Amino acid sequence: MNPFTPQTLATLAKTHATPLWVYDASTIERQIEALRPFDVIRFAQKANSNTHILKLMKRCGVMVDSVSLGEIERALAAGFTPGVHDGHAEIVFTADLLDRATLARVADLGVPVNCGSIDMLDQLGSVSPGHPVWLRINPGFGHGHSNKTNTGGEHSKHGIWHTDLPLACERLRANGLKLMGLHMHIGSGVDYAHLQEVCGAMVELVAVVAVQGLDLQAISAGGGLSIPYQAGEPQIDTAHYFSLWDAARQQIADLLGHPVVLEIEPGRYLVAESGVLVSEVRATKTMGNSAFVMVDAGFSDLMRPSMYGSFHGMEIIHADGSAVPGAFQDTVVGGPLCESGDVFTQGEGGVVLTRPLPVAQVGDLLVLQDTGAYGASMSSNYNTRPLIAEVLIEDGLPRLIRRRQTVAELLALEAV
Ligand code: LLP
Repeated sequence: MNPFTPQTLATLAKTHATPLWVYDASTIERQIEALRPFDVIRFAQKANSNTHILKLMKRCGVMVDSVSLGEIERALAAGFTPGVHDGHAEIVFTADLLDRATLARVADLGVPVNCGSIDMLDQLGSVSPGHPVWLRINPGFGHGHSNKTNTGGEHSKHGIWHTDLPLACERLRANGLKLMGLHMHIGSGVDYAHLQEVCGAMVELVAVVAVQGLDLQAISAGGGLSIPYQAGEPQIDTAHYFSLWDAARQQIADLLGHPVVLEIEPGRYLVAESGVLVSEVRATKTMGNSAFVMVDAGFSDLMRPSMYGSFHGMEIIHADGSAVPGAFQDTVVGGPLCESGDVFTQGEGGVVLTRPLPVAQVGDLLVLQDTGAYGASMSSNYNTRPLIAEVLIEDGLPRLIRRRQTVAELLALEAV
């Protein structure tokens, strides 16, 4: 989907140049509202870690999950408070390992660590006795929109293997750590059949923790809620999603004999539909029977199609915002990078596909939809292309929330 009028995008492209990320605050707020039944909504900031987006989340009462030292610093810069207050932590650090710098920083800040390996418990215990921890469990199965986003099962590197939970409890106790909760995130892309299984696994895992003589205050459903990228794909029924988790939470509360906080940890669901990537058509050509449209954005900006074969809706508009009339043609859309995989119309495994698009001319704008999640946050400097600018529209007012990087800034890193 595209929350913006063509005129708005045309004006912003003129003001800030292309390629350009544009986000809509009201779409993010709408998505947050749909998850309000959960006690805690924790934004997986890897999906979009711009500090202005994080500030918006904070204003809406959303907490944050950080997966690197850099993301922790972003959360702090956005005004999130470290530590645990009234049983809640505004920032949780989730990882499968602790590098030395991050270990020192989380110990210093008192940021709870969601541990995905038993080594982390020993390392944390040795420097920060009494530190609050979550245990991230791999329940032995997973699912995801591609093999690369499946985060459960024996081929996934994530989490503590479910049969190692008693051992994890023992190490946690031996290290004098404080258990806050159990967490599972088994992949991106929900299917409800699987969800029942996940909820059931959570209840069983909490029972194991109780047998080990430990208590906990919270469970986390992880993230993974999808959005409709293509026409015909359904919107998640968040009420149904909540009801399944709420039933599991109730069973767990009965088991433990006290109320239990239910957290959810979405990334994509909160931000994907809020954002578009605006690019300019810089060349058109025909090669054999293939029509190509070449735009100034590449996989250094939006990596998802090249990495996963992900589908993003596309629109073409004239530079003044007026519509490009009819006559669709099957089109390959390519970017500027010196690499043949720099194509936005491709399927999984890198197979080049076409998209029916109106016939574009140089100077037209090509808009890639639903790119608010895992767009800017996955960009790179490949081919020495500076990171591009980001604009957030709030109450009708566009605001630059990241300026464009310069080549000089990239070169400065090497002036050693
Ligand atoms: N929690 C944990 C521990 C995670 O590892 C992830 C995503 C999430 C939450 C949020 O998942 P979401 O709700 O956004 O599906 N770059 C890929 C997605 C990778 C997700 C990795 N972990 C993409 O562009 O689709």
